[in-house]
Amino acid sequence: MANSPCIAVVGKGGVGKTTIAAFTVKVLLERLCTPILAVDADPSACLAGVLGQEIEETIGGIREDTRAVAGGIPENIPKQQYLALKIQEAIIEAKGFDLLTMGRPEGPGCYCFVNNVLRDNLDRLTQTYRATVIDCEAGLEHLSRRTNRCVDTMILIADPTIKALDTLKTVLTIAAEIDNPIGRFVLILNRVPVGKEEAVRQAAAARLDLSKFEDVLILPQDDAIFDAELTGQSILHIDGRIPSYQAYRRFIDQLSPPLVK
Ligand SMILES: Nc1ncnc2c1ncn2[C@@H]1O[C@H](COP(=O)(O)OP(=O)(O)OP(=O)(O)O)[C@@H](O)[C@H]1O
Ligand SMILES: [Mg+2]
Repeated sequence: MANSPCIAVVGKGGVGKTTIAAFTVKVLLERLCTPILAVDADPSACLAGVLGQEIEETIGGIREDTRAVAGGIPENIPKQQYLALKIQEAIIEAKGFDLLTMGRPEGPGCYCFVNNVLRDNLDRLTQTYRATVIDCEAGLEHLSRRTNRCVDTMILIADPTIKALDTLKTVLTIAAEIDNPIGRFVLILNRVPVGKEEAVRQAAAARLDLSKFEDVLILPQDDAIFDAELTGQSILHIDGRIPSYQAYRRFIDQLSPPLVK
């Protein structure tokens, strides 16, 4: 679909990127903004699990040395076309959404190759979906390697730590330097203990220019997320009435312009 919106979730390791990416897919599914493309661009590949899916293939499994591919590339297929075909094979089809997992490169080769394959194909891929949600890696390789060329909404996440806030400062600096400007930034301060909301907001304001964000959401530490992790329950199947999800949904619903038109 032309101008299909792309939402990227970014932040330091362990702050809640995958959880928020899955929350976003859950909101879009509820709002029938389908089909959605969910992209796990983090080499540690956790999005599939929280979306209740099992990974079969990843972009990382596509070998840089294409001669190493079993059977090789048929001579009459150009390499780019072959890679596009392999990506299509790596996409898992689920109810209302598809999932593409980047994964780690296998054998010799480097992340540059995997990043480049994703970058070269992302714009084309996103066009056939109503919305794309990307769970980005903590090291921000996608930003620095200009893979996020089509981001309309960037959701920056920090837990209540100085390190996480400083990571977002770096994200904003890199984002300002990339070729395609990001549509808008929103900030989520995640896992904030009850009663500490104002202290955390002030700490964020001291480290970050909050005027750069269209909106700021403070999300509580939520035992229901802990329970889901403990039992392996998919985020898509947790009760939508849990406090963190309710707050997130309200936040998404009041964004203007909306996340997905
Ligand atoms: N608001 C919350 N309340 C309780 N637990 C949470 C909350 N947000 C995230 N978590 C938990 O914190 C842990 C880290 O979250 P998540 O995996 O989403 O972070 P991440 O940024 O994707 O991490 P990584 O960088 O390792 O991929 C998970 O166990 C998740 O269930
Ligand atoms: Mg993650």
